[in-house]
Amino acid sequence: MAVTLITGCSSGFGLLTALHFARAGHTVVATVRRPDGAPALRAASDEEDLGIEVVPLDVTDAGSVERAVAGALEAHGAIDVVVNNAGISLRGAVEDTSVGDARRVLETNVLGPLRVIRAVLPAMRARRQGVIVNVSSVAGKVAQPFGGMYSASKFALEGLSEALHYEVRPFGVRVVIVEPGHFLTCLGDNRLVADPDGVSPYAQLRRRWEVAASRLPGRGQPGDPASVAEAIYEAATTPDHPLRRLVGADAELIAALRRDLDDETFERTVRTALDFWD
Ligand SMILES: NC(=O)c1ccc[n+]([C@@H]2O[C@H](COP(=O)([O-])OP(=O)(O)OC[C@H]3O[C@@H](n4cnc5c(N)ncnc54)[C@H](OP(=O)(O)O)[C@@H]3O)[C@@H](O)[C@H]2O)c1
Repeated sequence: MAVTLITGCSSGFGLLTALHFARAGHTVVATVRRPDGAPALRAASDEEDLGIEVVPLDVTDAGSVERAVAGALEAHGAIDVVVNNAGISLRGAVEDTSVGDARRVLETNVLGPLRVIRAVLPAMRARRQGVIVNVSSVAGKVAQPFGGMYSASKFALEGLSEALHYEVRPFGVRVVIVEPGHFLTCLGDNRLVADPDGVSPYAQLRRRWEVAASRLPGRGQPGDPASVAEAIYEAATTPDHPLRRLVGADAELIAALRRDLDDETFERTVRTALDFWD
């Protein structure tokens, strides 16, 4: 039985991924920022008798990361799979984004995974075995207006993960970057908003963008978040899995356009398709 540690399991992909791995027979250490913050996960685990361990871990707190990882290693002797899933988003124009909010996003989405990776790697390298799955986003490939800070964090996570992949493979450790499109989770409810009062000079432009973006394929009918949990499981358990894994029709379409068009044509296509500015 493989031991899997997952961050951000109170809701969304993290919760579903914990259940998916446990149902497949993994020993799951499901970590949550707030110790009492996972009633749905605990209830589902009890109902199906899955034995999921719920452990506190705040990815912005180095001590908390080290305690959770050390506890899992002590209890189980090894961690085979780590899923860096915890994340927050921020909506708003770059100019409206305070440095404090930007720091919170980077602390969670970039330095959080870095803390976890640094905590688990010595044991993985020693065993010459392990898988690190980093949950990025299609926003880590393509930035959209009013998603600049979120994209900046996911672009950074992509770069860090790609370099890590080359560095740790010789030690027997695999890295996979999972890139979901748009799915309905609690991410939108929990996001930071750069201009909460709507008084920004960008407010009208942002509303226009939101109308345009709602016409994107997949926006009307977001995919089933369980498909992300399934993709994370496949990424973790398929030995020759590619470095990157897109999830969702919208993510596949956007990534295909980005791959197939040169920079100028891509930029023009996005502007024209979304009728964003003249
Ligand atoms: N939903 C989408 O459309 C989408 C698309 C692409 C990528 N993603 C990525 O998928 C991942 C999971 O997001 P989700 O959509 O499932 O959203 P979600 O339901 O809001 O889940 C995010 C999880 O991260 C946790 N978290 C936030 N800050 C944390 C911290 N400092 N320490 C530990 N945990 C923390 C949250 O815990 P609390 O309950 O304590 O806040 C929650 O459990 C994120 O990395 C997100 O960027 C989402």
